[in-house]
Amino acid sequence: MALQNGELSKELLDSQAHIWNHIFSFINSMSLKCAIQLQIPDIIHRHGAPMLLSELVEALAINQERTPFVYRLMRILVHSGFFVKQSVSTPGGNDEEGGEGYLLTPVSRLLLKEEPLSVRPLLLAMLDPMLMDPWQHLSKWFQNDDVTPFHTTHGKMFWDLAGQEPKLNQFFNEGMASDARLVTSVILKDCRGIFEGLDSIVDVGGSSGTVAEAIAKAFPNIRCISFDLPHVVDGLVGSNNLTFVGGDMFEAIPRADAVLLNWILHDWSDEECMKILKQCRKAIPSKENGGKLIIMDMVVKAEKGVRKMGKALL
Ligand SMILES: C[S@@+](CC[C@H](N)C(=O)[O-])C[C@H]1O[C@@H](n2cnc3c(N)ncnc32)[C@H](O)[C@@H]1O
Repeated sequence: MALQNGELSKELLDSQAHIWNHIFSFINSMSLKCAIQLQIPDIIHRHGAPMLLSELVEALAINQERTPFVYRLMRILVHSGFFVKQSVSTPGGNDEEGGEGYLLTPVSRLLLKEEPLSVRPLLLAMLDPMLMDPWQHLSKWFQNDDVTPFHTTHGKMFWDLAGQEPKLNQFFNEGMASDARLVTSVILKDCRGIFEGLDSIVDVGGSSGTVAEAIAKAFPNIRCISFDLPHVVDGLVGSNNLTFVGGDMFEAIPRADAVLLNWILHDWSDEECMKILKQCRKAIPSKENGGKLIIMDMVVKAEKGVRKMGKALL
């Protein structure tokens, strides 16, 4: 690529910036994780007013020599929309940040420890080294016969290791539960119609039962089953209209009017999805007789070069 004119120089620098953005995009998630581990959103929330950098540093359980780096961490997180800065009209409002303090945004409110719909556990689970390390082995996995990069890294399938390592099982299930609480709150508010008229529903891969429990509470007449691998449901206690059943969705699914697959299919290949869907078909009556399959899963929207992830009800 010869540098003959201004057009080409611009293209070269834009390309370099594009690559840099991809090289360093991990800094966004790692900085966010760091802020959560240091409890920065909770500290700012408790402060109850725009919090000066000096006040934040004082409240943090850190080595005070790291103070300049707190500013740099916060600058990234302001840039990515987790905090905003606002003028402070107190005598202390004359600090190194020009009298501006930090406030939460609607996004960081969802990361508070005490927020009922907090997705903090999901963030900590997904960014745990156990789940991050497999990304380092992605290219190795493309060259070997292992089922997943997780298998290449840890020598076992995720679900098998989770069955043997209670800590992994626990933090993963807590993460799933936090995500499920948020999604369920929206579904039960805006899409109640999909559950009306059902006598029974089975939540396949229902983890520790957050979704089934919420449906059972909102619809006391629906018999709800939360179905998952035995190590996930072992010891979980249901209620009047909620039961936990252990099993393997590739072999058989408990019978019900409706099957719910919440954040399941994206984990599996097309062939495996076909196997799961065939078991779902066996578990429910025909459509004419009221059988229903409810799928909630990740969609990837491509808009002008921006990839967005979200959940859709299908
Ligand atoms: C991504 S999580 C989704 C959990 C839950 N639906 C939610 O949204 O919170 C996938 C779930 O599928 C379960 N699972 C994996 N393999 C399974 C199998 N063969 N039979 C039943 N459940 C399985 C896992 O234990 C896990 O709880």
